[in-house]
Parts: sequence; structure tokens; C-alpha cells
Amino acid sequence: MATRKSNTLKLKFDTSWSYAPAPESKSAATINKQYDLFINGAWQKPSSKKYFDTINPANEEKLSEVAEANEADVNKAVVAARNAYEKVWRKMSAKERAKYIFRIARMVQEKARELAIIESLDGGKPIRESRDFDVPTAANHFFYYAGWADKLEYAFPNRNPQSLGVAGQIIPWNFPLLMAAWKIAPALATGNTVVLKPAETTPLSALKLAEIIQESDLPPGVVNIITGAGATGAAIVKHPDINKIAFTGSTEVGKIIQKAIAGTHKKATLELGGKAANIIFEDAPLDQAVEGVINGIFFNQGHVCCAGSRLYVQESVAKQVIKKLKDRLESLIVGDPLDKNTDIGAINSKQQLETIHKYLKIGKQEGAEMYETSCALPRKGFWCRPTLFTNVAQSNRIAQEEIFGPVLAVLTFRTEDEVIEKANNTPYGLSAGVWTDKGSKIFNMTRRMRAGVVWANTFNKFDPTSPFGGYKESGFGREGGLHGLLPYLNLAN
Ligand code: NAI
Ligand code: MG
Repeated sequence: MATRKSNTLKLKFDTSWSYAPAPESKSAATINKQYDLFINGAWQKPSSKKYFDTINPANEEKLSEVAEANEADVNKAVVAARNAYEKVWRKMSAKERAKYIFRIARMVQEKARELAIIESLDGGKPIRESRDFDVPTAANHFFYYAGWADKLEYAFPNRNPQSLGVAGQIIPWNFPLLMAAWKIAPALATGNTVVLKPAETTPLSALKLAEIIQESDLPPGVVNIITGAGATGAAIVKHPDINKIAFTGSTEVGKIIQKAIAGTHKKATLELGGKAANIIFEDAPLDQAVEGVINGIFFNQGHVCCAGSRLYVQESVAKQVIKKLKDRLESLIVGDPLDKNTDIGAINSKQQLETIHKYLKIGKQEGAEMYETSCALPRKGFWCRPTLFTNVAQSNRIAQEEIFGPVLAVLTFRTEDEVIEKANNTPYGLSAGVWTDKGSKIFNMTRRMRAGVVWANTFNKFDPTSPFGGYKESGFGREGGLHGLLPYLNLAN
């Protein structure tokens, strides 16, 4: 992409050199012109007869068109999942089930390069992220849960763990393949069958996973992957033969789902929004902290539910930290997601870009001071410069609401008590970060912060063995680790 060069040449602080473009090759990925629905182990035409486009948000070019599943299609998928559950999957020995999950894990590894390219093309995230984080972590989730499949009675001793039946799983566009793995792997390991719907702007990696699943010879109907937008998701939620709903996405839709399943037998886990506080104390190693803050919010264009979108910095070092942040921000490379040097890729959709722009305007109107980097942006596609706001008040909307973009609100504090109160003063409670040299402060902070995950002297670290999930409006239920098995089981005594 030509603009990459101009981006780097325009850097304020270093104009003497730039990286040569290092684009990953598109030709290493096969994307079909059209995708049908993956139901009962086969590709089936949608009864809606409708298809919709999925585009590359970096240049707005069409990548493929995918089927739109209507209620009849959802029903077909649920019937397939039910049959597979009753006739095959629940009867199979856990050890045999594990073999399939291990096989899927290995195949994801084998196709890692192709999956990473597809993820970056369809969603706009830098190839470095999809190659080094999304795809390997997705494979790791399959490996990890495959290991649990025949050890459930050791995970929950004397509790006789039983599968639930059919799980309906609805996932978002920020980590399409990884979210599919987070949801499918524990469901299969616990003996459930699945109907999964990826987000409408990023269906391609889940469809590639469907191809892998087909190739793995997993019995037909155990995993069904169907595409569509909100209406398809709603049809899954309300289908009477679904036993469990697993959803990751907006708090708004999370609330709709909770209402829709109220009074039914359906179990649910909801992983919703966040407004994480990253807290820097004056005794922290500041360069390391700044790097962590940058990674915490600009990683994946800020399209991360646990992104550190609020920075609380102790007053005595605020000036110094803000200067370091601005310097580092200027060096970030915004551009072609397939370029291996790119730090910040494309915003996932036009709609998400509009939401971010709305908040930039709100921030300015609220009296905060906006600083954005000087890099040039490509003309086509959806782009946003890394941006930070200073002079932000706790009550400002940019400090309270989820923006889901590369936008950091910087606030200051004086004491530990003050920052804990401020950090907890949000409707969300998904994650937080603490930067300090003092171990006792870390323990005090992590104990008092109302967040599902608190990182200390690091940020955005994930591992399949570690549970993840929120407090308050960030949702409920845990995914990952031993805890992540629970939502897919009934524990009888
Ligand atoms: P969304 O919540 O509408 O989409 C997430 C998934 O839910 C998609 O697969 C979508 O098709 C499906 N869906 C939409 N309406 C549904 C319904 N009524 N019933 C069942 N499923 C439904 O999120 P959207 O509109 O793409 O993004 C809006 C905001 O949500 C973002 O700006 C961000 O703040 C937040 N978000 C949070 C995510 C997270 O990881 N927690 C992920 C994506 C978005
Ligand atoms: Mg797309």
C-alpha cells in the first residue's frame, strides 16, 4: 500500500529512515467466491436464497459472499446438532471425543499461515497480531480443552459432570477465529454439540474452520457454522431446542439476549463490553509501563473488550508519561494489515469508524484535549489515527463509555484510595492493569479492583488455562481454564 511509505516518512521524530514494505502474500490463502451454510457436515444452500458481501476493511474490496441463514436454516442446524448429540457425540467415549479435538488443534496449526492471512484480510487487523496471537492462541484452546475431555470427573470430583445438549454460540468481529475456538473447544470437550454464528463483517476464518472441521472427519452435525447478522443470532437465541447460549459482543445485545431467554431452561454466558483502567504509579518502570499502555489500547485498533482505554497516571509523573506516550504514538505504523511492519491496521467496519468518530467529537465537546498522530491515512478503507485525550474528567463520556477504537483517555490521581474509587467507577468490570514496583501495592490493588482480570506490570496477556470474564455490565460466566468447562456442564451429585 503506497501510503505506508508516506506514513513512515512523515514521522515527526525520525525522518531519517523507514521500514521497507514487507507484505504477506494473499496468494497463500484460498477464499471461495461464495460460501453456503455448514450444516450436518455439508455445505448447504440457505433457504433464504440470500447472500451478503464480506469486504476487506483496508480497501473496501469485496472478498466473498456468504449465505444469510434465516429461521428455517437455524432450525436445520439445531436439528442436526440435536441428532448428532443424541445419536453420536454423547454416546462416544470421552477419549475418542478428545482425539477429534486434538486433530482440529493440529489442523489449525498446519493451516496457521492461511488462517492468519484470512483473518487480516477480512477483519483489518495487522498480520503480526493474527499470525503471532490470534491463530496460535486459537490452536492452544483446542489443545487445552482436548486435554480435559476425558478428565472431567477429576476437574469436578464427586460431582458427576453431564453435558447440556446443544450450545448456540454467537461471536463478534474483533477476534473471529479465537472467539470461535474459545466457544467450540470447551463445548466439544464437555460432550455438547454446537451451532455457531460468526459476526457478519468477519465470517471467513470461521468458514475456513468449518472446512478444517469437515476435513477432520468430526461426525456430521457436531459443529454447525452458519452465517448471518443480528436476525440470525436472534433466531439461535430463541430456538426452543437450544440448551445453552454463549455470547460475546455488545452490552446492548447482551441485555436483549438475557431478556429473550428469561424464564426458559437455557443456560447462558455473556461476555460484553469493558472500560479497563490501566494505572501507573510513580514508582513504576515508566518506559515499560508506557509500552504496556500502548499495547493495551492500540493493539488490534482498540477493538478489544478488555482494552486499557482509560489511563490513570499518578500526578507526579503525569507530564513525563504523557510526553513518552506521545513520542511512542508517533512511531506507530498505521497501514496495510498484511504488512508485517504494521502496528495498527484498519478499523473493522464503516459503522465502527463512525462510532469512533462520534466519540472523538464528544471528547472535544466535553473539553478534553485531543492529540492524534500526524501519520497519513490511506484514502480507501476505514482508518483512525492513534489518539489520546488529556484533561479528561471522570464524568466525561469518553471516560465512561466503550469506544472500541484506538483512543486513550488519560486521567490523573494522587492516592491509591482515590484511583481505586475512580477505576471502579464504571458500569463495566472486565479487566484492569496496575504498574508499580511494589508487590504489596499490586496485591492491595488487585484485591480491591472490581474487574475479572487484573494484569500487573503487563497487559492483554492470555492463556487457555486462565479464566476470563467480567463483573457488572461486562457480563457473567467465565471462559478459559477449568472454569470455562462449567458453563457447559450440569453438575449432579
Ligand atoms: P453486536 O453485539 O451487535 O455483535 C456481536 C454479535 O452478535 C454478532 O455476531 C451479531 O451478528 C450478533 N447479534 C447482533 N444482534 C443480535 C441479536 N439481537 N441477537 C443475537 N445476536 C445478535 O456488536 P456490534 O454492533 O458489531 O458492535 C457494537 C459495539 O459493541 C462495539 O462498538 C463495541 O463497543 C461492542 N463490542 C464488544 C465486543 C466484545 O468483545 N465484548 C465485540 C464486538 C463489539
Ligand atoms: Mg470483512
